[in-house]
Amino acid sequence: MTSARLRPLVAGNWKMNGNKMSARVFAAIIQGYDSALRAKVELLVCPPATLAVTFGVVAVGSGVAIGGQDCHAAASGAHTGDVAAEQLADAGATYVIVGHSERRADHGETDAIVQAKALAARRALLTPVVCVGETRAERESGNALDVVRTQLAGSLPETADGGDLVVAYEPVWAIGTGLTPTPSQVGEVHAAIRAFLVDRYGDAGKAIRILYGGSVKPGNAFDLLSVSDVDGALVGGASLEATDFLGIAEYYR
Ligand code: 13P
Repeated sequence: MTSARLRPLVAGNWKMNGNKMSARVFAAIIQGYDSALRAKVELLVCPPATLAVTFGVVAVGSGVAIGGQDCHAAASGAHTGDVAAEQLADAGATYVIVGHSERRADHGETDAIVQAKALAARRALLTPVVCVGETRAERESGNALDVVRTQLAGSLPETADGGDLVVAYEPVWAIGTGLTPTPSQVGEVHAAIRAFLVDRYGDAGKAIRILYGGSVKPGNAFDLLSVSDVDGALVGGASLEATDFLGIAEYYR
């Protein structure tokens, strides 16, 4: 099942990095996103919530989408420190990452919580980017596919029409480590995710983009992004520099 027809998405997850001065980096990303690149690939930047409004204003008309890194399941209320999907939408976001492994590990987010967040994103008309991925121990014990399928089963919404959902495969052991799976390992997991999506959503499952994330850099973008059923990348560290982030997107030019 090839997904070459899907418009690829290269997404930057800035995590807990950046301040007001980072608007310069974001402006450089916008500047490098010329019409030729725009025709080939969608760009998304997910800054920390403190910068969402600033970036949202700068992004108007640029074609670069803004996303949140997490949202609460509720639309508003007594949830100190949390951000609602509706608030992200108000700031100009059109996407939100949910279920990142750092949130699952640091905040004890279960699949059920992640699913509730994905539904909250939809309620606010944001596209959820639902993250899944195995730990090193799970990979080494041969359970990567089972772990990913279980996470998908519990974390994804029951319904999807294709464009209203993005899945990101991020092996935990590849995040921020410089390690990456081999193209054949990536292909095996992405094929399993595609099969899961088609099983769950029918034809709509073929239209859901599946991103690979974990130590993506310009130097390995070709190897990782050319794998079947890899419809883009979710980039951490390399998204903090405009040249690196754009260098990854250049694969699609
Ligand atoms: P790195 O690209 O820094 O490995 O991070 C990946 C990631 O977690 C993106 O969400």
